Amino acid sequence: MLLLPQGVPPGVLLGSPELLQQSPTARAAEPENYNGERNLWVFNNIHRYFLYASIIVMAFLWYEAIRAFFPDGFGITIGSLLFLLNVVLLSGYTFGCHSLRHLAGGRTDCYSCVRGGNLRRKSFHWVSVLNGRHMFWAWVSLFSVWGADVYVRLLLSGVITDLRLV
Ligand code: FES
Repeated sequence: MLLLPQGVPPGVLLGSPELLQQSPTARAAEPENYNGERNLWVFNNIHRYFLYASIIVMAFLWYEAIRAFFPDGFGITIGSLLFLLNVVLLSGYTFGCHSLRHLAGGRTDCYSCVRGGNLRRKSFHWVSVLNGRHMFWAWVSLFSVWGADVYVRLLLSGVITDLRLV
């Protein structure tokens, strides 16, 4: 996924020709001239739709992770702990997304001037905390997905059994 700091139109970072021809002072003085992405740059906007889809997937993953603790009554297995770790790490990645940060509060200049401003300010803060380590969350969640997949594969093929701890 594209990694773009909030408030900076992707064209600025990726080098829209018109912007590169302007002096830094002129670029900084004319943010209101930004009218959204044009031409191929509109594909940058697809990122936010992947985020929306990912949030739906996260709801299913949380549901499955919780269900893993109730195979037949409450129980804790290596697999349930692995599923829980996996969904926590994936949540750290998903809910630190730049698009979510922008959605939460990145496009607001004055929180006390908008409805739900305090909630948006707090949301922006927490998404920013996760966003500050976005690459960390990306790597650890990548390996946790891989680990959970391998574990399930080994379980299904009968190579291992899910050790019950409680
Ligand atoms: S910036 Fe959205 S997932 Fe990385």
